[in-house]
Amino acid sequence: MALLTILGVGPGDPDLITVAGLKALRQARTVAYPVAQPGAEGMAARIAAPWLHLEQRHLPLHFPMTTNPEPCQQAWHCAARQLVQAVAERPPVVLLCEGDVSLYASASYVVLQLQRMAIPRLTLRLIPGVTAMAAAAAAAHWPLALQTQQLLIAPAPETPTALDALLAKAEMLAFHKVGQRWAWLREALEQRDLLPQTLVAERVGWPDQRLVPAAELPAGSCSYFSLVLVRQAWPSLLPRDLGDAGTAV
Ligand SMILES: C[S@@+](CC[C@H](N)C(=O)[O-])C[C@H]1O[C@@H](n2cnc3c(N)ncnc32)[C@H](O)[C@@H]1O
Repeated sequence: MALLTILGVGPGDPDLITVAGLKALRQARTVAYPVAQPGAEGMAARIAAPWLHLEQRHLPLHFPMTTNPEPCQQAWHCAARQLVQAVAERPPVVLLCEGDVSLYASASYVVLQLQRMAIPRLTLRLIPGVTAMAAAAAAAHWPLALQTQQLLIAPAPETPTALDALLAKAEMLAFHKVGQRWAWLREALEQRDLLPQTLVAERVGWPDQRLVPAAELPAGSCSYFSLVLVRQAWPSLLPRDLGDAGTAV
């Protein structure tokens, strides 16, 4: 069976895998996963570790942490070729992905590359995972969007002007890839009176998960594996005290 499955795991917690995902993982003879550096431990591989078995071949795929197009494109191409070879040699193959397979996922580039390569007889299957955003909202009991509200998903902005442009677009915002940007973002949110309605969710699903009201998190940098969830408003049908209760973490 020339099957390649792109599979979302976690975030953090191995138990968040879907039943379809667990079945695919158990049947896989090759398990591929992204690594940021050759020899490094892959985060998705660590999450899936409890479900792996000894007979499976491991295939780390190097995706450099850069926005420089050339090394990125080389890495996607190389990963796609390695996967095609693995499918020929030791199928079925699973490529692990942290969270959902379609949201800011390295796997998406591999899928696009494979589609361009149009490999005959390659069956490609994508099994969605739980986004870090959904896992954070569930862990914090934080409704993400209600009624007609809009939810905007974006990387954390780089400047106050970019922040204002995003705030103008939606009531709810989920900022990804926060890391060092928290240093200025915290101050900008405070100046806009949004700190009390903002939640920082760090390393969701991992044993050291932190869900912190933004006001309690100092302005230093936070983990790259952090989300900043900003609620600008509750829907008008909600009694005030219900909204206040829902803002607490
Ligand atoms: C490359 S994206 C991967 C997103 C992932 N595919 C998803 O569905 O959530 C990485 C960003 O997602 C967020 N993220 C991923 N895992 C996380 C976690 N366990 N806790 C908090 N945020 C996480 C962070 O904002 C991080 O910078």
